[in-house]
Amino acid sequence: MIILVDFGSQTAHLISRRIRELGVEVKVVEPEGILKPFDLAQGGQVQDDGGVDGIIFSGGPASVYEKGAPTLEKKIFELGIPILGICYGQQLMCHLLGGEVKPGFKKEYGRAVLRQQATGNSGQLLKNIPSESTIWMSHGDEVVKVPPGFETVATTETIPHAVIENEKMRIYGIQFHPEVVHTQFGMQILENFLKICGLTPKRSGIDQDSVENIIQDIKESVQNGKVICALSGGVDSSVAALLVHKAIGKNLTSIYVESGLMREGETENLKKVFKDHYKMNVQIVDAKDLFLKNLRKVVDPEQKRRIIGKVFIEVFEKEAQKIHAKFLVQGTIYPDVIESAGSKHSKTIKSHHNVGGLPLDMKLKLIEPLRQLYKDQVRQIGKILGLPESITQRQPFPGPGLAVRIIGEVTEEKLDILRKADAIVTDELKDIKLWQAFAVLTGIKTTGVRGDNRAYGQTLAIRAIEAKDTMSANFARLPYELLDKISTRIVNEVKEVNRVVYDITNKPPATMEWE
Ligand code: XMP
Repeated sequence: MIILVDFGSQTAHLISRRIRELGVEVKVVEPEGILKPFDLAQGGQVQDDGGVDGIIFSGGPASVYEKGAPTLEKKIFELGIPILGICYGQQLMCHLLGGEVKPGFKKEYGRAVLRQQATGNSGQLLKNIPSESTIWMSHGDEVVKVPPGFETVATTETIPHAVIENEKMRIYGIQFHPEVVHTQFGMQILENFLKICGLTPKRSGIDQDSVENIIQDIKESVQNGKVICALSGGVDSSVAALLVHKAIGKNLTSIYVESGLMREGETENLKKVFKDHYKMNVQIVDAKDLFLKNLRKVVDPEQKRRIIGKVFIEVFEKEAQKIHAKFLVQGTIYPDVIESAGSKHSKTIKSHHNVGGLPLDMKLKLIEPLRQLYKDQVRQIGKILGLPESITQRQPFPGPGLAVRIIGEVTEEKLDILRKADAIVTDELKDIKLWQAFAVLTGIKTTGVRGDNRAYGQTLAIRAIEAKDTMSANFARLPYELLDKISTRIVNEVKEVNRVVYDITNKPPATMEWE
């Protein structure tokens, strides 16, 4: 087993997922509890209890030298168990072992090239990794002096100690994030570390059996009870609802709340797929006016999210009460859980409306079949269940809908403009595989010229991104010709828009949605 010490990194859960994907058990602990899995032997010596093969320190938002920064008892390094420190984990390791950490010359986010030292002894951690590879950085501080006994084995253009190691003690530190997909050989680094721990990692995935197990679990917990579900038509809620439908059939009622914040054609499509094709019991509730009324004059993104979540619950609860259900299905996936609540030391980035929201005071038991899973795994389940690609490969869409893609107050008029422009973006990019592509109404009006007249119109932004999970993303390198076509179509077909811009920011530091 690997112990993962969580210092509050946004990607700590991703590290544990990667380790599990390699077939190894992980236990996530807060730094304060780290020595608990170990027995203190007599004489103050620390020994492990025999079950721990390795320890990973996650990254985190703090600086090692700031007051109250999470830390560890130094005894951890005396256990003789291999340790891998990632980002903050590496800095803390250096800080505690006599190295030096300083604020970086500038904060660094995004891609970098990792170069292994030609002269160094690139021990086991970078085994089978080319001497140059792409990595993903997200940090402010950096190690400027390694602790005694450590050696630097790789650098980047801006980071002198990107990978450090003490082969004898089997302690390793890396400044970048091996857990995110943008680090080219990230999985290999983790695999190498597990081998250093004496484990035999092997890569695994979702299969037919795991899906059958989920359905069987649902059957057993629900039996003849009535179940309700909030169906949004997105991948998560669709797969969750279909899993439950496969398990209990007509005892499931799915409620679709029409908020008026959805994209063009969405409600019609949902009817077609779930009501007509799958013959599921879906109730469609029109609450467009209620949402708009509550959003009047609201501009703060977090307030918008809270209001939408609250109205959604009210509408949903009213409908649900008519059904006398005992259970509630939610399509919560793991990143939702982590980004909403986070662990003890992590910071809230956005309050996601599909978690922490639904009616806990309804005294319904929750069924969350996807709670431990990531988007790509959910898609895989959908595929195994026979859902069409139009759903399994569908782009994610935020719970608060177009409201978080309209900067400033949300009005019906702005929703109409955004919907029309967004449909053009979707249409033009339908053959390109992207994580997400959408339009954002920026709330900025600029001067233009139409015919011979001055025009003062809306600025629309296009966001098109590539990603494998919600934690990191690159803006898509779309061809200029295509951007030109989209821009021309938008300004011609949506008369209120007279300027189109392309968002060229990666995540981090920008999030995928603008709000
Ligand atoms: P951010 O903007 O946080 O988005 O980088 C990461 C991914 O999550 C989606 N997103 C949401 N999904 N409820 C959801 O179900 C929400 O409140 C929400 N907010 C953002 C976003 O579209 C992106 O794919």
